[in-house]
Amino acid sequence: SWTTGSIVEEQVAAIKAQVGGKRAICALSGGVDSAVAAALVVKAIGDQLTCVYVDHGLMRQGESEQVEKEFVASTGAQLRVVDASERFLDALAGVSDPEQKRKIIGREFIRVFEQAQAELIAEAGAAGEDVAFLVQGTLYPDVVESGGGTGTANIKSHHNVGGLPDDIEFELVEPLRMLFKDEVRMVGAELGLPDSIVHRQPFPGPGLGIRIVGEVTRERLTVLRAADAIVREELTAAGLDREIWQCPVVLLADVRSVGVQGDGRTYGHPIVLRPVSSEDAMTADWSRLPYDLLAKISNRITNEVPDVNRVTLDITSKPPGTIEWE
Ligand code: XMP
Repeated sequence: SWTTGSIVEEQVAAIKAQVGGKRAICALSGGVDSAVAAALVVKAIGDQLTCVYVDHGLMRQGESEQVEKEFVASTGAQLRVVDASERFLDALAGVSDPEQKRKIIGREFIRVFEQAQAELIAEAGAAGEDVAFLVQGTLYPDVVESGGGTGTANIKSHHNVGGLPDDIEFELVEPLRMLFKDEVRMVGAELGLPDSIVHRQPFPGPGLGIRIVGEVTRERLTVLRAADAIVREELTAAGLDREIWQCPVVLLADVRSVGVQGDGRTYGHPIVLRPVSSEDAMTADWSRLPYDLLAKISNRITNEVPDVNRVTLDITSKPPGTIEWE
């Protein structure tokens, strides 16, 4: 539309003026905001921008490939992928406490990203100081929230790509800071980003790490990824993606229950479905999914995912439950 087109033009001009001939760096999270911010900056300054994607090994099935292939194909961005899954899993070994998991994932993310930055600056050689800008997908509500100083209680320590430490001497480029989420999606579409990115539902920075109740291991991630892929596939097939705010799928890795399948007794783990409807994630209600759809998801998960012999539905609103389990 005219409005969206003019937002793009305006921001592209502003980014060009701000960055000039220097270089910028951007961390991609797989989410809408960082992807749209990066796409705008690519449109403005091309390969003066380097995008960095830290793969923490806690993404859902196909998500890293989406960043590596679809984002790059639709924007032409220069992308560096850092496969840090081993490092994150090592750091998470033996840890089951939710807050501790969140802190470890946030800390490791910052370390890996800073290392990538340092490498980039080193490669730029004598002109290294020209890597002067950091792109962030800050939205208008984030700006208001951090400026408002309302002192809301911090219930869970959030990990965002934006949550980088203060000691980096980059100048920020925040092309979305005047926009609301729906406008960001419109800009993303205008820039040619695929629907899979533009209409992506919220997904937490710590990823599947906070959807395994208990210690995070490679084997457990494989189980959860398979169950989650089935849920997403069925929700999409039922045409419910835009209706549902998000549907966390949670593995109760420390719980086992008895079941029976084929010739014998099983002793497997439960999966929890947490479909919610919401306007802004501050409050939420559980989604009344059709029974037939729930039955199909349950049958598929118990048949197709080894080690899972029970599927349960979370029918708690927020409050008192949070959307995520950790
Ligand atoms: P809760 O569980 O607090 O979640 O009801 C509210 C919304 O925030 C998402 N969420 C996160 N998003 N980093 C993020 O970027 C995080 O650390 C994080 N933790 C929760 C959650 O998926 C829901 O949309």
